[in-house]
Amino acid sequence: MPSEKTFNQMKQQNILCCRCQLRKTCRQVIPGKGPSDAKVIFIGEAPGKKEDLLGEPFIGASGKLLDKLLLSVHLKRSDIFITNIVKCRPPENRDPSPEEIGMCSSWLEKEISLIQPELLITLGRYALKNFIPESSISLFHGKITSISLGKLENLPLLPLYHPAAALYNGSLKDTLFEDCKKITSILSHKD
Ligand code: URA
Repeated sequence: MPSEKTFNQMKQQNILCCRCQLRKTCRQVIPGKGPSDAKVIFIGEAPGKKEDLLGEPFIGASGKLLDKLLLSVHLKRSDIFITNIVKCRPPENRDPSPEEIGMCSSWLEKEISLIQPELLITLGRYALKNFIPESSISLFHGKITSISLGKLENLPLLPLYHPAAALYNGSLKDTLFEDCKKITSILSHKD
């Protein structure tokens, strides 16, 4: 677990980032939120309108569904770290470009390497492709894979559909809740 000082310093540096053009149009940079000793990191795509306004990841409609998902596996927001591959809202919520994702990636890497979680959960195809570029969400969702990231080797990664996709296409909702159950088995094996 990092010291609170190191963890907060990283957040403060992230907040000042203006590496890419997204910072010119968003209201604020939104680093990940949650405890520095979280066992699980959830990784979404990019902040939306409400997140940009209020400065926290996943507090809009997708966040509400995420809360229900967490509840279904007996987790609370305060147990997890939640972040995005891109920390600034893209204009009109467009998809982040590969350049923007690339320029932001070191912030996510810092968050992960400081927290050293037991499990990474990607939400949606952009977050999944950030770790496994040749993957497809329809084939990989719900299947635990493992990745190596810097000094972290064999880190379990569970790809889930994005809550926004399940809100848009109701037929994905049951799959999302079913896939989410895998979290319990991974974490219980660690105890
Ligand atoms: N809110 C976020 O913070 N990230 C997403 O990917 C979607 C909504």
